[in-house]
Amino acid sequence: MRILSGIQPSGTPHIGNYFGMMRQAVELQERGETFLFIADYHALTTSPDPQVLRENVFNLALDFLACGLDVSKTVFFRQSDVPQVTELMWILNNITTVGFLERAHSYKDKIAKGFVPNAGLFTYPVLMAADILLYQSDLVPVGKDQKQHLEITRDLAIRFNNDFGETFRIPDGIIPEKVAVVPGIDGQKMSKSYHNTIPIFGTEKAIRKIVMSVVTDSTPMEAPKDPEKCNVVALYKLVASEEEVEEMKRRYRAGNYGYGHAKQALFEKLWTYFAPMRERRAALAADPDYVWDVLRDGAKRASEEAEKTMDRVRRAVGLR
Ligand code: TYM
Repeated sequence: MRILSGIQPSGTPHIGNYFGMMRQAVELQERGETFLFIADYHALTTSPDPQVLRENVFNLALDFLACGLDVSKTVFFRQSDVPQVTELMWILNNITTVGFLERAHSYKDKIAKGFVPNAGLFTYPVLMAADILLYQSDLVPVGKDQKQHLEITRDLAIRFNNDFGETFRIPDGIIPEKVAVVPGIDGQKMSKSYHNTIPIFGTEKAIRKIVMSVVTDSTPMEAPKDPEKCNVVALYKLVASEEEVEEMKRRYRAGNYGYGHAKQALFEKLWTYFAPMRERRAALAADPDYVWDVLRDGAKRASEEAEKTMDRVRRAVGLR
């Protein structure tokens, strides 16, 4: 079984990325050959500064390795090191209608927020389909925000197979049930573009400051509170045991328990949860060559798979 997922190098990865995708991907490494990549072509849709993009790729590689990506089980690479993906995208573009892409939620959301879209943003889902189909993926672990992109991918694969003969495996997405969408500190979806993230890695002071700024209502300390409506509790659920969550809910309902207390408990759990990963990250950061070597080796292996698929695709559409 082939498992595949990607993440954009568009800033510091956050706990939404971790609980939405990275944790699942790391667990799935035990179940089949895993391909994980850093989606730097996708990041170009937001026109990053070139030097910042390069640094983000390196830092994200460190972060993912620190979070448990095991290079003996996983092919880890940078998307742009296997440029065949853009060739496949071009071919898929020609079986994709404009109306189909206009219905994509993430595109519509960006437009609604006043973003002036470039063609890259518009065809983003086709590049993502190419990522998934190029490597003949069976399972794609992602957060819920990527669900529609997976449906688009399946649709394009089925359309291509119908038009040109069996070429692609039809992938399935897997979305974590408990935490399909991790909320940000303001209660909206946690997202780099909403500036509401809690980074996985950072100094104690910085993470504490962010956790202390999680938005709550103005119920006074003494009054009972509704845990089901509170953002702090929603985040606490990610890192605390069921008993600990129940205990926090009980305190909310009993009163005399302030949001500041809950935030402190959340910070402590988060800080402990990511402690082993922080240690691994510090060790890895001391050897940057190792990180680049990993990505280079991964790209070699990924290219072999990409060529196999592209050979079939080129023949199927009449380019050979
Ligand atoms: P990206 O970089 O935005 O996010 C990486 C992964 O993190 C998940 N995620 C979340 N999950 C739960 N709650 C949140 N608040 C949250 N925020 C982010 C995302 O669902 C994603 O799984 N288009 C992709 C990258 C990509 C890709 C692919 C993924 C490119 N090609 C092929 C899978 C397969 C993206 O922008 O993810």
